[in-house]
Amino acid sequence: MHILKTVGVSRSFGKFTAVNAVDLHILATGIHALIGPNGAGKSTLLNLLAGTLPVSSGCIYYEGRDVTRLPIHARARIGISRSYQVVTLFAGLTCREAMQLALQRDLSVAAWLSPGPMRKVREDADELLKAVDLFDVAEVDTAELSHGLQKHLEIALALANSSRLLLLDEPMAGMSISERVVLANRVRALAKDRAIVLVEHDIDMVMSLADTVTVLHNGAVIASGDPADVRADSMAQSVYLQAGKAC
Ligand SMILES: Nc1ncnc2c1ncn2[C@@H]1O[C@H](COP(=O)(O)OP(=O)(O)O)[C@@H](O)[C@H]1O
Ligand SMILES: [Mg+2]
Repeated sequence: MHILKTVGVSRSFGKFTAVNAVDLHILATGIHALIGPNGAGKSTLLNLLAGTLPVSSGCIYYEGRDVTRLPIHARARIGISRSYQVVTLFAGLTCREAMQLALQRDLSVAAWLSPGPMRKVREDADELLKAVDLFDVAEVDTAELSHGLQKHLEIALALANSSRLLLLDEPMAGMSISERVVLANRVRALAKDRAIVLVEHDIDMVMSLADTVTVLHNGAVIASGDPADVRADSMAQSVYLQAGKAC
């Protein structure tokens, strides 16, 4: 079952086409990796899916519904979530406060002022912090967390709206190998009951982690399928070689 489909989605900046007629089929669970050389259009495509950027042409269907014109907050409400930039958004807040803020975003003012729902927000925040092993640092300012822990918080915050489609743009960038392994396991666990679209540089990580891989080059899809098939694909291989290293 597909949770998201794009039909001929394109995005231009002036005369330059960054994303070119992309047909993407994302299954309801599992990890769908987007790879391709620098400038291939991966981040732009994620922005189109999240609603951060409008498409120039084409359509986006989420759970069968045309969401092409829905703004980012409306897409977030129906379960499409991209990771937050924790440091810029939440500096000055502790992990617990940041999590509570993310959880109470959709509460009405009446609910916000009454003790019941707010107690639930506090409990849910601590549950989520425990789920990503951040409970021990609940009282720590988000800006003081290590880079690796910030990434975990970023994902947990994106989950606060019980997203069913999580969009992650290079979450492992700048992490140590051990931090990458922990994050990879977490992403794997999360993908059991939601769809994750993962942009990732580390090709070995992608090949071992992803259920489906789509290769973008000059904004267009040049290969898509299970990791072994994509690795064997000659056109995809030539793009890797051209890029020097796969990214
Ligand atoms: N806001 C923008 N204005 C103009 N060009 C852009 C903009 N955003 C991205 N691009 C261009 O689109 C291309 C794809 O960028 P991007 O999606 O960031 O690639 P990737 O994430 O695969 O490295 C690049 O050539 C980039 O310079
Ligand atoms: Mg990018």
